[in-house]
Amino acid sequence: MGALAQDLPGGVSPDWTIPQGFECYTEVEHRTWITLYERQAEVLPGRACDEFLRGLDALDLHGQGIPDFAHLNEKLSALTGWTIVAVPGLVPDDIFFDHLANRRFPAGNFIRSADELDYLQEPDIFHDVFGHVPMLTNPVFADYMQAYGKGGKRALSLGHLQNLARLYWYTVEFGLLETRNGLRIYGAGIVSSKTESIFALDSPSPNRLGFDLERVMRTLYRIDDFQQVYFVIPSLQFLLDVTTGTDFGPLYKRIAEMPDIPITAIEPSDKVFTRGTQEYAMGGGRLRQGAV
Ligand code: PHE
Ligand code: FE
Repeated sequence: MGALAQDLPGGVSPDWTIPQGFECYTEVEHRTWITLYERQAEVLPGRACDEFLRGLDALDLHGQGIPDFAHLNEKLSALTGWTIVAVPGLVPDDIFFDHLANRRFPAGNFIRSADELDYLQEPDIFHDVFGHVPMLTNPVFADYMQAYGKGGKRALSLGHLQNLARLYWYTVEFGLLETRNGLRIYGAGIVSSKTESIFALDSPSPNRLGFDLERVMRTLYRIDDFQQVYFVIPSLQFLLDVTTGTDFGPLYKRIAEMPDIPITAIEPSDKVFTRGTQEYAMGGGRLRQGAV
């Protein structure tokens, strides 16, 4: 999301897809994938949810280097009918939603440079593929993502994209799942980051609150550092049911009359898993003296 329609670069199709260019990756770029993969393989067992870990297995996304979308798509489409399409970076909202609504996940075809493994502005192939694609092997999550794409088109036409974008942020990117064995990660922004995988579950700093659709759609978010609040869903099926079972039209209207909720707020109606200390953010976060 984020580019403008008039930004369409030369050589890019009207739907913003490009060839992956698999044969063009250098040895160094494949090594970067393997390094990132190995770091996640260390931290994710016991932290990522089973659905994610099973997806990694099913796609055989084991650290052999940057995956070839053609091979990945054979496995993924057989499982849930989803495919991955390559894009040059962020694409316009309507294009993005149209891909999702047709069970196509747009993934950047480039990889971050070896000297910025931890923090990046624009999602690269490791975030998009390692982070997002394993969950697309789960039939319930696969349906949620498609429904989100359809909902995105509707939100655009109603002028309420901001509220729907918050839902994406706090579920698809930074969602936590409650399980019998404790909280687990399913959000792609977390599972593709070593430091946030640890922070999201282990740090006393962030709030961890029960997911409530309206509440989430009213909550601001930050894009420049670890989250200060994570929302916990009881199951993927719950997420699918509550979002597809609610007509967002009246909901958008109602919340337009209500104030946004600040990032660190805890509301009386929140189910609190963790009341965070916010020590990380208050100490200056990523940019604190000497941390970068
Ligand atoms: N039910 C939503 C609507 O009425 C669509 C939607 C479904 C949005 C699932 C997000 C996720 O607009
Ligand atoms: Fe993402």
